[in-house]
Amino acid sequence: MRNAIVLAAGKGTRMKSTLPKVMHKILGQPMIGHVITHLKEVNTDKNIMVVGHGAEMIQEYLKDQVSFALQLEQKGTGHAVMQAIDQLDPNGDTVLLYGDCPCVQSETIEWLFESNKDFDLTVLTAFFFDPAKYGRIVRDKKQRVKKIVEFKDCSKSELNIKEINTGIYCFKNEKLIKHIKELNDNNAQNEYYITDLVEIFINNELKVQAISVKDNDEVMGINDRQDLLNAQRWIQKRINNAWIDQGVTFINPLGTYISLETTFEEDVVLYPNIYLEGKNHIKRGTTILPGSFIINSTIGENVKVDSSRITDSIVGNNVNIGPYSHLRGHTEIGDGTRIGNFVEMKNAKIGKNTRCAHLTYVGDAEVGEDVNFGCGVVTVNYDGKNKFLTKIGDHAFIGSNVNMIAPVTIGTNAVLAAGSTIDHDVPDNDMGIARERQVNKPGLGLKYIQKK
Ligand code: UD1
Ligand code: CA
Repeated sequence: MRNAIVLAAGKGTRMKSTLPKVMHKILGQPMIGHVITHLKEVNTDKNIMVVGHGAEMIQEYLKDQVSFALQLEQKGTGHAVMQAIDQLDPNGDTVLLYGDCPCVQSETIEWLFESNKDFDLTVLTAFFFDPAKYGRIVRDKKQRVKKIVEFKDCSKSELNIKEINTGIYCFKNEKLIKHIKELNDNNAQNEYYITDLVEIFINNELKVQAISVKDNDEVMGINDRQDLLNAQRWIQKRINNAWIDQGVTFINPLGTYISLETTFEEDVVLYPNIYLEGKNHIKRGTTILPGSFIINSTIGENVKVDSSRITDSIVGNNVNIGPYSHLRGHTEIGDGTRIGNFVEMKNAKIGKNTRCAHLTYVGDAEVGEDVNFGCGVVTVNYDGKNKFLTKIGDHAFIGSNVNMIAPVTIGTNAVLAAGSTIDHDVPDNDMGIARERQVNKPGLGLKYIQKK
């Protein structure tokens, strides 16, 4: 059994924020979400998160994804682990991670589980030129790890040690459950240190090893907003480089922000100043131009998205979107369709080869194939209380500045005259006209202009 405990009860005072530290976002996703995404990649059987400060918000964000343990008072990392101990499987291994350490990759977590096979405790360490306030790894003459000493408890010579504790470990559950009770708070901070388990394990003749991380950046912890930006830059570079190797073209990767859960096919071209958040899939040959924001959406092959926002929607192949369009609320766009220039669509299903190119709102609608929308068309879907559906059949031609007051159905091959306000159904093959007849008053125009 593989278990994981993630500590996330701390306050994060240095973020200077009302938001709990681990809820601050990196590439559109709270940093705690990055930790969970990587954990899921190694197929753990159970993930337990220790929460305290901001518990409600974190629990709301991760509900159904992890189980929780509450630490009401923050009495140290050892005390935090004690809160989760009852939920561990009696056998197997537990990796201990921090919620404010979002760069740790799944390969490293996997490596920890594997390295701990024949050990009772594996500590992940790093060598820092400036070991700052990290806990120091003390080794004996044979280079075997002896104990971890916290910065505030270090002797002068211990302060010179360059090998530090990353705070990430793998424990044998059986031994962790047995010995965690032996922790005490007799130290400079009067806290229960999880690090004391190294010495306790060794005194009980258990097998402890310390192995060092390959890339120090992976273990960077977030304490303030500078750290947050540094971590974002590191993760952004990593994600973008991986997609470059998979055949994605970046015009300037520094200005392209891609979430962990976005995927691409070959020959996608990404301009700078675009944001892809949440779970997106972008298919082959598609180009995304500057100023686009795409969230939880699927974009088909050979699509062009220009300065547009697309949320929770699905776009077919060979579609043109924008400039300046907004698709949201589970909109679906058929192949070959054109959506452009200040068009908003919400909860709309649009058929193939339809054209909706200018200044139009389509909300709560089912639209067929090869439909033409003129400029300035509005589906009037809301009466102030409820939303209603507009249905438009194949090949219909909707004139400019038409309002369709829902619920209303426009038939196949129907034509709506420009400027009409349509509140009755229009049958197949018919034309709907709903506007005042024009009256011309001879000479009145000139008179008016002369008076001015
Ligand atoms: C800890 C380690 C130190 C290591 C460093 C690496 C201990 C005693 N020390 O120190 O050796 O070099 O991490 O970053 O473990 N937390 C709780 N509840 C608590 C206390 C902490 O959930 O009661 C969480 C925090 O939210 C944070 C993490 O545990 O995510 C680390 O706590 P922190 O107080 O920052 O530990 P350090 O002093 O940095
Ligand atoms: Ca810390």
